[in-house]
Amino acid sequence: MKTEIRRALKEDLPALALLEKEHEGYPAWGEKGLAAELEKSFSVVLLLKCEGETAGFMNFWIMRPRLEINSVVVSKKHLRKGCAGRLLEKMLEYAEKNGCSLIDLEVSEKNLPAVTLYSKAGFREIGRRPKYYNNTYDALLMRMEIR
Ligand SMILES: CC(C)(COP(=O)(O)OP(=O)(O)OC[C@H]1O[C@@H](n2cnc3c(N)ncnc32)[C@H](O)[C@@H]1OP(=O)(O)O)[C@@H](O)C(=O)NCCC(=O)NCCS
Repeated sequence: MKTEIRRALKEDLPALALLEKEHEGYPAWGEKGLAAELEKSFSVVLLLKCEGETAGFMNFWIMRPRLEINSVVVSKKHLRKGCAGRLLEKMLEYAEKNGCSLIDLEVSEKNLPAVTLYSKAGFREIGRRPKYYNNTYDALLMRMEIR
């Protein structure tokens, strides 16, 4: 599978906003929200292409010594092909280059694909916000420490 990852550009944002919409119930940043991320010096939006198609994206903030993941989204057509894993690998390159030793994120306990993805990648639960989503599901605070 041929994949390519690069920084997202303003002209990519409509396609990224469409990807978010494929996942019902996933909190979408929308085109405007993503455009705001492109303006922030500490924010990185990565775009992943698979066989030439826009297949996923990821947004994170570099706040040395922490890196905070805000979103990882993969199009339904390209699920379970390792796209999210590749985005996480690229994020780790950014962490190392920027001297970030702690990678943090928040995810709903109900989001089994994401919780499994992050656990498998080496993230561990370090806390919870009870009933944070829809006053029903806990938010899991997950962290990876890089030595
Ligand atoms: C979570 C998400 C990003 C995973 O993307 P993906 O490209 O399909 O993930 P990968 O193919 O890289 O999977 C890596 C591992 O994660 C786990 N995983 C991924 N999807 C899973 C699922 N539906 N059920 C269980 N485990 C899953 C598996 O361990 C998988 O490894 P395997 O395929 O060898 O078993 C994708 O499902 C998605 O976009 N969901 C909607 C948005 C979202 O919830 N984002 C995360 C919150 S920020």
